[in-house]
Formats: sequence, structure tokens, C-alpha cells
Amino acid sequence: MVGNIFIKAINEKPNIVLGLATGATPLPTYCYICNSYKKGKVSLKNVSTYNLDEYVNLGHHDKNSYYYFMHENLFNQTDIQERNIHFLNGNAKNVIKECQKYDKKIEKKPIDIQLLGIGQNGHIGFNEPSQCFSKTTFKTKLTASTIKANSRYFSKSKMPREALTMGIGTIMKAQKIILIATGKKKAKAIKEMLKGQVTPRCPASILNFHSNVEVFLDKDAASLL
Ligand code: PGA
Repeated sequence: MVGNIFIKAINEKPNIVLGLATGATPLPTYCYICNSYKKGKVSLKNVSTYNLDEYVNLGHHDKNSYYYFMHENLFNQTDIQERNIHFLNGNAKNVIKECQKYDKKIEKKPIDIQLLGIGQNGHIGFNEPSQCFSKTTFKTKLTASTIKANSRYFSKSKMPREALTMGIGTIMKAQKIILIATGKKKAKAIKEMLKGQVTPRCPASILNFHSNVEVFLDKDAASLL
């Protein structure tokens, strides 16, 4: 279903700018887009993308990097042009400059649709629960909950403890936001996001202040509503 929203949006605006997420949640959506491309129903030739986040100290070609994930699961299977793909560089020497540069790029070419998953702790991107919402892209320390949830992807190497992520302010500038959550493990975060207070302790709750958000849940993720 979400896949189809993307196909329609790309066909309506072939040079659309997409904000993309990694993790298990968006995989069916990416699979749908790849299949539609293979069937000739869509072209990503003029689409631009910005990914939400990247681990610190993982090179682009590390199999656990989000750059690698996106190429494996979406980009390499479509006709998107490499020059239109934007990523944070987790290996950047000057992290502050890297983050500022990313926000400037997004300012120049704003995001039409931002796709989001949600962490079990309510994070979006790698905006972890904290005392305040971050306005801009920044380097963050991952929480124990996120390290536990994502360690399963790192079979041999140790999972990084830090990441670069679009800030909440950056995410909120997207014209439209689509959040997907699946599975029982997300039910508590979804309840807090939709029924709780708007607070940086549940970063996804800020989406209540965005005027164009669609949330897609399976039965398990919606089970506490
Ligand atoms: P997941 O991660 O899709 O792998 O559950 C989502 C997230 O942490 O934002």
C-alpha cells in the first residue's frame, strides 16, 4: 500500500525528492518500488533521495552501513542516478561540517515525502529519547535500547555506538511524512506517539505538530490503541 503511494507520487512528479529510512520496516515498500520499476511502471531516473542517518565510523562499502543497505535493497535495482543519492558520511573527519552541509543540501532541494520507521523507544531516524528536540542534523549517541534492537544485524563486527542523523527540525521540514510501524514490539511506541504528550522523551510524538503525516500500522503495532 505504501509502495503504491510512492509509485503514484513519483509518476506525478518525476523529479520528486524523497527522504528514506533503513531497517526492516521499509523493506516491503522498497521491494514494491523495485518490482514496479522492473515492470516498467515507474522510473527513478530523476528522483533524488536523502537518507535519514548513517553509523559513525562505517565506510560506505561496509556491509552494515546504511549506504550499502540502500544500494542493495533499492538503488541498485532501479535506474536512480548515483549523483541524485544523498547520504551522510559516517567517516567524515569534520562531523559538524558534514552535518551542516547535509542540512544546506536539503534546504536547497527540500524533501517532498519523508519515509520513517519508529524505534521501540520512539526514535525517528536516530533521534533518541532526550531532554530536547534537535533542530538540525547532528552526531548522536545510540541508546541501549537501539543498540539491543540493531545488534542483530551485526554478526561479526561490533555495532557502532554513534551515528549521524537528520535532526527533528530537518525531518519536520519535509512537505509530507509517512511513518510505518509493524509488529508488537512497536505497539508501546505507537501508543506513546499517538496518545501521549508531545515530548522529546518520545521523539516521534513531535509528528503531531506536522500538518501532513500519514501513519500506517499493522494490527500488532496498533494493538495498544
Ligand atoms: P526497524 O527499525 O524497521 O528495523 O524496526 C526502525 C527504526 O529503528 O527506526
